[in-house]
Amino acid sequence: MSELKRMAARRAVEYVEDGMVLGLGTGSTTRYAVDEIGRLVKEGYDLIGVPTSLETERQARSLGIPISTLEEVEQVDLTIDGADEVDPRFQLIKGLGGALLREKIVAYHSKEEIIIVDGSKIVDRLGVKTPLPVEVAMFSHGKTKEAIEKLGCTAVLRGGTDPFVTDNGNYIYDCKFDGIDDANRLEAELDSIPGVVESGLFIGLATRVIVGTERGVEVRER
Ligand code: A5P
Repeated sequence: MSELKRMAARRAVEYVEDGMVLGLGTGSTTRYAVDEIGRLVKEGYDLIGVPTSLETERQARSLGIPISTLEEVEQVDLTIDGADEVDPRFQLIKGLGGALLREKIVAYHSKEEIIIVDGSKIVDRLGVKTPLPVEVAMFSHGKTKEAIEKLGCTAVLRGGTDPFVTDNGNYIYDCKFDGIDDANRLEAELDSIPGVVESGLFIGLATRVIVGTERGVEVRER
């Protein structure tokens, strides 16, 4: 599996050009891409990375990749990130790694968003296999959970009695739906709940999906 992730990551980095500002995603697949980007910097490429998590920032710094923030750069040319599920319409579930809020902000402000996955992440319908991560404010999060569950899911606080805290100081509820039919509608419904900071539904953000499979690398364009 890790070889398939590495294949997808290497292919994505072929889209990196000298002088680019790069959004750096989070997760085990993106780790391989960030390693490759570090190699390009050592070869002399003039690149700037905008990390989507403290974890990725640490990795990028250790590789000597110059780091910046969305506030400081004029634009992000290309973001490379992983996903937990990808459907045929390039709709995604992200956030099992806990970095969904920053990932979504950076994706929104990127000219291009390349998603790198192994074949196990490709699904016909979102939310059948994977819970949807939803980042919520700590304040009265139990009430927020009740409101989320009214949308037809079971929401479990990540980490349980020792809750996982995101880089932004929030909690995550992993929300198990019986499949998600209308991702647009669900996203709007989640966004309308006070206390919901962001959901792991990424709609209309991915421009290209690169899949590592046993038969080789597939590049899918939207
Ligand atoms: C991080 O919050 C996530 O969105 C990751 O991008 C996603 O979970 C994919 O991670 P892996 O590449 O480790 O599967």
